[in-house]
Amino acid sequence: MVKACLFDLDGVIVDTAKYHYLAWRRLANELGFEFTEEDNERLKGVSRMKSLEILLEIGGVSFDEETKEAMAAKKNAWYVEYISKMDSSEVLPGVIDFLTSLRENGIKISLGSVSKNAMIILKNTDVDKYFDAVIDGTKITHAKPDPEVFLKGAEELGVDPKECVVFEDAQAGIEAAINAGMHSVGVGSPEILGKADFVISSFNEMSLNRLKF
Ligand code: BG6
Ligand code: MG
Repeated sequence: MVKACLFDLDGVIVDTAKYHYLAWRRLANELGFEFTEEDNERLKGVSRMKSLEILLEIGGVSFDEETKEAMAAKKNAWYVEYISKMDSSEVLPGVIDFLTSLRENGIKISLGSVSKNAMIILKNTDVDKYFDAVIDGTKITHAKPDPEVFLKGAEELGVDPKECVVFEDAQAGIEAAINAGMHSVGVGSPEILGKADFVISSFNEMSLNRLKF
């Protein structure tokens, strides 16, 4: 029996990949190389510093730690500028209806995201009110596929991991759910998310009676 649902943020509740892309591309261009949308796929679900490592590898350049910290901070300032303009119209289709039906049926809800900007996004899009717990990049030390972010969510909700379902758009996130001993639903393409219990293309396909595993 499912007692809690744990949601990734970027790519599940909102499509922020486009803002991450704009900010990383701006940094790449400043450094004198191109960064394509295809390259950006490699950054989904990946932490900020690891994303920078991948970007620099694509550009074939390397820098010392201090310079890298400054670059990551610069990219983040641009990203925050973009997400500060977000509003509730950017919540992905079907999400609000599904969150509402979970609340009406007493199923607990947690966020499980590696982003350190999660709170700003939840507030700006007005979905913060649906969450009983918020575990984000400011509360964890290990990135997905480590299960920490989801185990902390289950703990804060007081629910056994076996009674939790994770919603994720990244392969590393599905692996984190499996490593946490939880059920998982992929949001996106079955080719990438094949390890999930099942895959949906949007929350319009999701309903309470699909929470049976
Ligand atoms: C993940 C995104 O949710 O958060 C990644 O999929 C991003 O693309 C990561 O790098 C960290 O986000 P932030 O907001 O802390 O830089
Ligand atoms: Mg994601």
